[in-house]
Amino acid sequence: MAVASTPTVCVVGSGGREHALAVALSRGAEVVVCPGNPGMQALGVTCVEGPAEALDVDLFVIGPEVPLVEGLADRLRARGRTVFGPGADGARLEGSKAWMKQVLADAGVPTAAYEVFDSPGPAVEFLRSLPGPWVVKTDGLAAGKGVLVTGDLNQAEADVLAKLAGASFGDAGRRVVIEEALIGPELSVMAVCDGRTAVALAPARDHKRAFDGDLGPNTGGMGAFSPVPDADGELVDEVMRTAVEPTLEALSSRGIDYRGVLYAGLILTSDGPKVLEFNVRFGDPETQAVLARLQGDLAGLLAAAAAGRLGDAEAPLFGPDVSVCVVMAAPGYPDAPRVGGVISGLGSNLPGGAEVFCAGIASTPQRHGGGHHDSDPAGSGTLITAGGRVLSVAGTGPSLSEARAVAYQGVRSIRWPGAWWRNDIGLSATQAVGLAGAGGVK
Ligand code: AMP
Ligand code: GLY
Repeated sequence: MAVASTPTVCVVGSGGREHALAVALSRGAEVVVCPGNPGMQALGVTCVEGPAEALDVDLFVIGPEVPLVEGLADRLRARGRTVFGPGADGARLEGSKAWMKQVLADAGVPTAAYEVFDSPGPAVEFLRSLPGPWVVKTDGLAAGKGVLVTGDLNQAEADVLAKLAGASFGDAGRRVVIEEALIGPELSVMAVCDGRTAVALAPARDHKRAFDGDLGPNTGGMGAFSPVPDADGELVDEVMRTAVEPTLEALSSRGIDYRGVLYAGLILTSDGPKVLEFNVRFGDPETQAVLARLQGDLAGLLAAAAAGRLGDAEAPLFGPDVSVCVVMAAPGYPDAPRVGGVISGLGSNLPGGAEVFCAGIASTPQRHGGGHHDSDPAGSGTLITAGGRVLSVAGTGPSLSEARAVAYQGVRSIRWPGAWWRNDIGLSATQAVGLAGAGGVK
């Protein structure tokens, strides 16, 4: 009788999302991350140098949007590899907001009214015709930072001019999308797609603004939690029916065989959920929060989707525990992160139920001889900050307030000069359902 061997998986990327994917996938597979980072390596994840094309594994899972938009999935498939992640044709959904809006309009997906502009005169004229608040987006990729939402028309006009001139976001901003502001809480729904069908993962809520109380500039995401008290199964079904499935069908009707995550960023308006954007990959930090609750075989699920046969996999099941993920950032993030700070406390003193996911981390050259430094759990060199979002800490517990307490206890056990984080991840939801207060978390 043949014995099935453990599948091998390569996760492409180097952030907290990829670290979380590696941890979850390793429950059913042998996993490497390419290239990963020295932080995750120190915490036991096998990291390998690229290029990913040179690796021979059963399944590739591509984390970030940039390699997807640049066609990495196509190049791997051309070599006969099995890949979870769309080709460049499908990834355009995230690579061009103007194209995404067109696909949504064709598919009849509820979204904000919008116009696309290449030149300043008509763009400013359109802005002035809107009641505000004003929303200005770069057409192209900007690491989650190309969106301005403001109640100040002058600021919106200045932003349009800077984007179109290429001054603020280079070529990504030379075309802008100006759209109606939607009001309501946000929700992230990530769906695993096999080209024709899709299955939803548990919903999460991100915190996009830099500072407590949703103040400050937009970031890639400062923290997330799952489940979301005001987003039950029925609401997720509605998102699948009105947003994800029609979009997958619209892609398919354009000849696009979309195998990967369709991540709907939504606002829950009084008129129902409306799509702000589709991302073509797992969210960061939503993935860290959502996968902490996943029970069952993620590798099997993604392999089935990559093979175009989602029906062969068991539907994803999520445990009842709540997960809260808090991002720790370098000083100066998101505008101009200052890196190179020595990280201490990683991998030690974590409370039960907490897990660290490493992102913007590098190491100094390996030292010879001597004992291990506190920040050097694997003896591979001192770990230092190397990016804006340095790491995230996910805490799980039976309630939102307990999960928050675990996550923040984990956060406080890790240090580097100028480390900062939001203190209110998940807080509004604990207040909304009357659960706040436990654990004295600030
Ligand atoms: P996006 O990259 O399009 O998801 O936008 C980043 C963030 O900007 C979103 O998560 C929202 O917080 C905010 N945002 C984007 N578009 C709108 C809109 N039309 N109305 C209100 N807020 C928006
Ligand atoms: N957390 C937002 C994103 O992944 O785009």
